[in-house]
Amino acid sequence: MDGATAVEAVDGDTEFWADGGSLRSALREVPPRIPPHFGYDDLGSQLFEEITELPNYYLTRVEDRLLRRHADEIADAVGTPWVAELGSGSGKKTRALLAACAARRDTTYLPIDVSREMLVSSGDALATEHPEVAVRGLWGRYEAGLGWIRRERTAPVTAMLLGSTLGNGTAVERRALLAEVAGTLAPGDRFLVSADLVKPADVLERCYNDPPGHSAFARFRLNHLTHLNRRFDGDFALEHFRPEAHYTERIQAVEGHLHATAEHVAHLRALGVSMVFRPGDVINVGISAKFDPGGLAEEVRELGLVPGRSWVDEHWRYGIFLFHRR
Ligand code: TRP
Repeated sequence: MDGATAVEAVDGDTEFWADGGSLRSALREVPPRIPPHFGYDDLGSQLFEEITELPNYYLTRVEDRLLRRHADEIADAVGTPWVAELGSGSGKKTRALLAACAARRDTTYLPIDVSREMLVSSGDALATEHPEVAVRGLWGRYEAGLGWIRRERTAPVTAMLLGSTLGNGTAVERRALLAEVAGTLAPGDRFLVSADLVKPADVLERCYNDPPGHSAFARFRLNHLTHLNRRFDGDFALEHFRPEAHYTERIQAVEGHLHATAEHVAHLRALGVSMVFRPGDVINVGISAKFDPGGLAEEVRELGLVPGRSWVDEHWRYGIFLFHRR
């Protein structure tokens, strides 16, 4: 299984899944919530790749096109020898950009991901296509990867957060992540972040639910329960939940839900958690916030980063934004 890619475990021992503390407190929120990183065990990471290929899920394709079309300009603007990517996944979307970076300067790519399998397979694929890019995989959560960069960095770095991933936390988690990024960057460093832009609810709900004949979203959302059952000796009954996403204008976010369809009790014995469900109760298994460029710039500016260039598609669906640490 192991390929040639150098992967470093940066998250203490590799038992970061066993961190029941953040899970337990998220499950106590109203409605209960499963934090996003539990969606990405190996199966979840594969299912997520399937989501990105669904006909109505435009984010990946639009971002991919922006990154390819503007790879040279973005690589010029990035300007740093180190390029770290938070939540690198399959890494497909960044290959053109990394090649453009490596054409301009020695480039070391530092993908950070909770899936070790993804780090190895994406690193090996990159090494085959673009051997001129050096790769060091950082296996762990974003915070741990950023911590490693703070300690080990030997060159100016651009932190990339693509895939509109900034929208996948609560408002509190988002601020904490931005603060963590801003606190990692030194003068001359950069932050490259992409964001799906606000649009009508019907477009977003079609985007975030399975079209007829597909089930990647349903399986991805239900897999959160399978993952928790396995990690925490649980007995969530998947047949008692119906996955569905809907857009909430008030928070400008799509919320992925599991709706309980029967009255029942579920336990996570290793966490000492039991939860009572009645029909209509929901578990939140994902937030996808939508942005307007001005609001995003303001949020990032508050942390001391200065807005630079940006790239938005012709239909104003999606944008890539560069910020500078002065
Ligand atoms: N950030 C992307 C989005 O919000 C991709 C993503 C992350 C996602 N987690 C998700 C999509 C969960 C669907 C469900 O769309």
